[in-house]
Amino acid sequence: MCGIIGYTGLEEATPILLDGLEQLEYRGYDSAGLALFTPGGSLQRLRAKGRLSALRDRVREQAESGADLRGTAGLGHTRWATHGEPSERNAHPHRSANGLYSIVHNGIIENFEALRAEMEAEGVAFTSETDTEVVAQLLEKLDTGDARETLRRTLPHLEGSFALGILYHSEPGVLYCARRQSPLLVARSQSGTLLASDAAALLPHTRSIFRLEDGEMARLTAEGITFFDGKGNETAKSPIEAARHVTAAEKGAYAHFMRKEIDEQPEAVRRTLEPLLRSRQLQLGEGERALHDPGDIHRMIFLGCGSAWHVGCVGRIIAEELCGIPASAELASEFRAQKSAINSHTLCVIVSQSGETADSLMALRLAAECGARTLSIVNVEGSSIAEESDCVLFTKAGLEVAVATTKAYSTQLAVIYALCARLAQLRGTWSGDSLAAFLHGLTALPDQIEETLRTCEAPAIAWAQELAANEHAYFIGRSLDHAAALEGSLKLKEISYIHAEAYAAGELKHGTISLLESGTPVVGVCCRQSVTAKTKNNLEECAARGAKLFCLTNDTALRLPRQILLPRCHTLLATSLSVLPMQLLAYKCAELRKCDIDKPRSLAKSVTVE
Ligand code: AGP
Repeated sequence: MCGIIGYTGLEEATPILLDGLEQLEYRGYDSAGLALFTPGGSLQRLRAKGRLSALRDRVREQAESGADLRGTAGLGHTRWATHGEPSERNAHPHRSANGLYSIVHNGIIENFEALRAEMEAEGVAFTSETDTEVVAQLLEKLDTGDARETLRRTLPHLEGSFALGILYHSEPGVLYCARRQSPLLVARSQSGTLLASDAAALLPHTRSIFRLEDGEMARLTAEGITFFDGKGNETAKSPIEAARHVTAAEKGAYAHFMRKEIDEQPEAVRRTLEPLLRSRQLQLGEGERALHDPGDIHRMIFLGCGSAWHVGCVGRIIAEELCGIPASAELASEFRAQKSAINSHTLCVIVSQSGETADSLMALRLAAECGARTLSIVNVEGSSIAEESDCVLFTKAGLEVAVATTKAYSTQLAVIYALCARLAQLRGTWSGDSLAAFLHGLTALPDQIEETLRTCEAPAIAWAQELAANEHAYFIGRSLDHAAALEGSLKLKEISYIHAEAYAAGELKHGTISLLESGTPVVGVCCRQSVTAKTKNNLEECAARGAKLFCLTNDTALRLPRQILLPRCHTLLATSLSVLPMQLLAYKCAELRKCDIDKPRSLAKSVTVE
């Protein structure tokens, strides 16, 4: 998703803007730009297609050619294209026709075509294909000479989502900003004030960070910040607790953040479980608020996107087995696409690392409108989903920089295990020795994750050397193993660009098996003892058609080709171990295929558009 940074204060703005954009690179982008007020009060704009280094080159070239790039107030932006190809002319900041307004934007203006047609008919000349430029042109069209009043009048014309950074030519040194759905933070530092689309760009400067709510706006000057609502009335705000995510985003000795974050999983899961599992007693803290009158919860729905949905696929199985409640895992984008039958007897669990995924946020809002209880499992404090849920259980993964999630995924699983066990305990559907055995397994999990990473790295590398040259691969499993296969398949395709499909093992022979040819890789996950024999049969059906098998199991009696033996753990927790070799497989394949592992093409870390 797009990254936004703004600064006004006593220091030169350009280095702060460029360094801030660097902190936001992990969000994914295809072009970048900045605009700043020069001491003479004019507005300079520089933009470049491609990586941030291209923009840095542009700044250097301009400075060397004598352009005046001093200035202590400006905006920076990394663009993840939604409307209009990645190019310099589509890069932000966008300017209005007469240069009154320069803006940067994250989100989608859904009615931009109608607004653009209206203004073109009035003679306004557009210079880009973006939805964002419409906002700059509309601000100029509705300009009252007072930016705050102009903003107040303009925003209601916009449909869709936005986080906006705005420069008004008549107010050098002043930044304006506004938020609807797309996250936007503002902050006070020693030397001035800043705005940004996420805390990663602000934390190097300050801990005094404020989150704009939907409809809120702010005016930033070197001296301070004024917040105001959609009616223009000033509002007061308290800072948020964003400092918990101050993980110096450094790779250290690792070649990629993803590899570092794979190795951080044992400690991340340990840190996450610790407050939930003190002295082997389950306690969910504020999460318990969503579990009041546990007998009144008749249904659970796990909502999320991508890997977060895969976590929900694990959750629904465990919830049904432990809590005796009908449970489903629904793609957040699909959940919103149909009328839902949920009500006050439904517990909706929204899973989201960033806490800003637009589809998941909108699904949360729909669930709340239907009267459901909402509990979110989120990694970023102060994020929209965390703030808008009835209650939230935070994962303690720390800042996850790689676009492909690993440690956040594993910590989400850990929270799901504790949540389902606690609900089962409260409902009285689970207690005694079986609960004790589960809690013992949960306590042992971080060490088993550590052991698995240590023992399966070499075989996973050997797998990658055999698999990396393929253009297609299949991942199969049953029950929890299928949920793990979904995640293994996504990891492989999103960073190595190998087409991969996850299939319920029993489903393959109902059509897809026709795609198998000699040498087609099939990864089989056989860790759920109750269904291992059947999955083994399915794997043999694949081998009979020439498939090359790669098997994960914790069953020492199995003898499958290219088998990686995983530690035996509680049967309901096996996904946390079986996913690890598949993470390493994906990483190694991507490395062998020389892919951009931490920033895969076309992907963003936080998908804040629908
Ligand atoms: C996973 O590797 C992907 N980066 C992606 O599927 C991600 O899980 C999904 O976009 C959901 O993001 P969230 O957890 O921040 O809501």
